[in-house]
Amino acid sequence: MSNETEALIAEYFATGTLAGLPRDHWIDGQWHAAAGGDAMETFDPGLGRAFAAFASGCEQDVELAVNAADRAMRGPWSKGTPAERSRILLRAAEGIRANAERLAVIETLDNGKTLSEAQSDVRSAARLFEYYAGAADKLHGETMALGPDYVSQTMLEPVGVTAHVIPWNYPFSTAARGLAPALAAGCTAVLKPAEQTPLSALLLAQILHQAGLPAGVCNVVTGTGAKVGAPLVAHPKVRHVTFTGSVQTGSAVMQAAARNITSVTLELGGKSPMVVLADCDLDATIEDALWAIYSNAGQICSAGSRLVIERSIHAEFVERLAARANQLTLGHGLKNPNIGAISSLQQLEKISGYVEDARARGIKVAAGGTRLTDPASGSGWFFAPTLLDNLRPMDRLVQEEIFGPVLAVQVADSAEHALELANGTPFGLAAGIYTRDITKALRLARDIDAGQVYINEYYAGGVETPFGGNKLSGFGREKGLEGLRSYCRVKAVTARI
Ligand code: NAI
Ligand code: MG
Repeated sequence: MSNETEALIAEYFATGTLAGLPRDHWIDGQWHAAAGGDAMETFDPGLGRAFAAFASGCEQDVELAVNAADRAMRGPWSKGTPAERSRILLRAAEGIRANAERLAVIETLDNGKTLSEAQSDVRSAARLFEYYAGAADKLHGETMALGPDYVSQTMLEPVGVTAHVIPWNYPFSTAARGLAPALAAGCTAVLKPAEQTPLSALLLAQILHQAGLPAGVCNVVTGTGAKVGAPLVAHPKVRHVTFTGSVQTGSAVMQAAARNITSVTLELGGKSPMVVLADCDLDATIEDALWAIYSNAGQICSAGSRLVIERSIHAEFVERLAARANQLTLGHGLKNPNIGAISSLQQLEKISGYVEDARARGIKVAAGGTRLTDPASGSGWFFAPTLLDNLRPMDRLVQEEIFGPVLAVQVADSAEHALELANGTPFGLAAGIYTRDITKALRLARDIDAGQVYINEYYAGGVETPFGGNKLSGFGREKGLEGLRSYCRVKAVTARI
């Protein structure tokens, strides 16, 4: 561990906070106190206690931020050269890397995840800015062949002011995932981080400012979904909303945007299957299943939260996976255990509720199943890595997103049966396929209803790979060149000559 990280950790455990944390909104290139003067606290889930206060915004703050973003649409960012945008976004990537240690420590404290997970999130955020910096000056239109008497071309224009409503499970990298392509396309933005994890979006805005982003291009308003998120997505000057979160809130966001005919990208829940066939590489698949569900304490929209497994290997697989789950260490994220905390008490109670219900109904709990505290401090919000075995297709543990370290096991009698089980939920975000038979793998990949399919490695892909869902998991794609589409509108210009 570096000296800088060690010093930050020592400071936190000695004082219960860190010096210099942001606490106001970031609007029009400067810190802005909440219009109503209200504040909220953010919690360190690893200790279950508040460690910082931040601005609790309202409609007035949203109005200021959207107006700043709207003015900035007429300024040098949107009207200037793509090459200059590219240079500034590249400097932002460097700025993220230069601040990586402090960013990762703050993200760990705010969210509860392990330090190594937070470090990886920060790296992927830097990579997103680097990737879209490279794309900013390569957004081309086309020419259409209408014969010798016409010149017809399309131009890509920035869609306008964009709103980004961010969840608490990947606060920094999700902010970067929407913001980097929006900025590359020449849009301006207002970000609303989740009230559980407000800090890293504020730090990102500051880094962008230092990289040379003009005032008003990126604004951050913190506070609740009701008081900040709702007026933001309903604002008539917002032309695109990028939302990641629950299905219920996603639907409300879409309805609010519909009143202004504002476009939306919705990245919602999932109940993604890992389809494991009898001919898979058993050792590798068990290890992969472990991290598909228990990374980030299971709080991942695309987590492999269902194991759909062929009957002939089911018993051995579950026994060995349970043994591995029982070995995993839990603790405060800054101590870098295998699994960190659950991000909020509310989420912990939701997870506990599902597992209590399973127990009450006599479902076999093959591993975990209990709420825990950090063994070192006796506090914090933790849940043991859990395996629920042999579930029926219509069980709510199969049909509903739990968003915690809880794996639901379903037994299949054949590859065809596995496909039916895999597609048997209202979600369609991701799916894993495990087999040594490439034909079976590609047939399943063809037939599974999901936005992304991973063969023999869960979460395979990079910032280059488009990501998004089908069915209740949402629509629109983020990451990759696809991720730029939502932020560009096409203008066709045709001349008779
Ligand atoms: P949520 O969807 O309510 O919150 C996500 C974001 O939306 C937050 O920034 C929140 O402040 C904002 N928000 C809330 N109401 C809003 C509104 N009316 N208009 C605009 N923005 C609004 O999710 P919540 O309550 O934090 O978690 C509930 C469940 O949602 C979780 O248990 C999990 O199942 C799912 N979830 C899924 C995520 C994903 O990555 N797909 C991320 C977070 C939660
Ligand atoms: Mg927090």
